[in-house]
Amino acid sequence: MAIFRNGNGLAWARRRALVWALLALVLCAAMNIYHYSLQGARGLYLWDKTWLFRILILMGLLPLGLLALSLPLEKFKARIPSKLLRGFSLVASFLVGLTSIGILAFLIATPRIGTLRAPNLQLIDPSKGFMVTQDTEGLLLRLSVSSDPHWGAEKTDSNARTNILASVAEQRPDAFFILGDIVETGSSVSQWNTAIADFETIVPNIPLRLLMGNHDALFGGQLLYKKAFFPEEFSSDSGSPYYYSIETQGATLVVLNLPWGTENFDRKQRTWLEEVLRTADPLKPIIAFSHSFFYASGYDDPDLDKPWYDHYQNIPALTPLFERYGVDLVVSGHNHYMESLESNGVRYAVIGAMGGKSDPVPAYISPASKWMAVATFGHLNIDITQTDIVMEFKDQLGKTLREERFRYAPSLESGSDGSSPQA
Ligand SMILES: [Fe+2]
Repeated sequence: MAIFRNGNGLAWARRRALVWALLALVLCAAMNIYHYSLQGARGLYLWDKTWLFRILILMGLLPLGLLALSLPLEKFKARIPSKLLRGFSLVASFLVGLTSIGILAFLIATPRIGTLRAPNLQLIDPSKGFMVTQDTEGLLLRLSVSSDPHWGAEKTDSNARTNILASVAEQRPDAFFILGDIVETGSSVSQWNTAIADFETIVPNIPLRLLMGNHDALFGGQLLYKKAFFPEEFSSDSGSPYYYSIETQGATLVVLNLPWGTENFDRKQRTWLEEVLRTADPLKPIIAFSHSFFYASGYDDPDLDKPWYDHYQNIPALTPLFERYGVDLVVSGHNHYMESLESNGVRYAVIGAMGGKSDPVPAYISPASKWMAVATFGHLNIDITQTDIVMEFKDQLGKTLREERFRYAPSLESGSDGSSPQA
């Protein structure tokens, strides 16, 4: 009778531990699936503290693993080791379940806490484009571009950021593109509010389009990004608020969704991109914008063991398309430098210089690199004439650091390269 009771007791204890372990596994899976579904999160798992994110995925298996280890020990006379392992399994289930619920609640709640300021800005609706108002003879279009201002980051140079906004306002481009990492932590309402307030103060009348960078996407930041800069009444040719083309006088502009790399470059985005490039007006230049770079000089991150240069995902996935369809210029941020590069007839620029902490002196120089500025803040002006694209890298006060002129017009002889370092 006692043996029967013991057998029943063991089966019950085993079943109870199994139920809790399965519950912990389900909660852990739900948390990871939700996080993984957010923009940029896959890149975070690949590029950031990968050991931490591996733990978040694998911790769900720990209670089951401990329980499985306890099973063979039940055959032995001494029951203490198997009891202990079952006990550890229960504790692990509790901790894993609680951690998973906590992280899930954090991801869902954080971007929804607080009131996001409704921006009073000239935001560009991609489906409508923007008015071109250049009246300088021969100039069809002027764009200003910068990236990585990182509002809310401790080591950001806020003076440089303000100077750049003022400098852009003074040069009155037809549109100002900021290529992401607007804020340090995308789920922080207060960081977005500070950025919006600065835009409203300094560039209230400049048509503005902002891309979502990896920092903007952090922990559900896509919700705030969309709310602030892609309101419900906006639309795009791709149907996505993160990638689209903008048809305008003087150029076809293509915005790509590459927060860390190709984690969001799915078949849908690729098919859309090919269609846009294939059907683009052959008389206009094609200029593409993205957050993460393609060719770039950089360094090996000692903490993350990741190469922050010549992007090992973006280059093979997208540059063959740029080359096949004659993209003229690709401008990105992500690395906090200014750089001009060229590869297989396509020009590339990196302009992650809007105040975010400067990256270290590069240990790796890209074979495609033509010029770069380290620890220098500023923006890039892109002027389109009837035949040429003129790139001017500006410092934070608007002084030209480097000018490059190249032809895009297919009907004219190409090959002129009027690059001229000015400082
Ligand atoms: Fe950045």
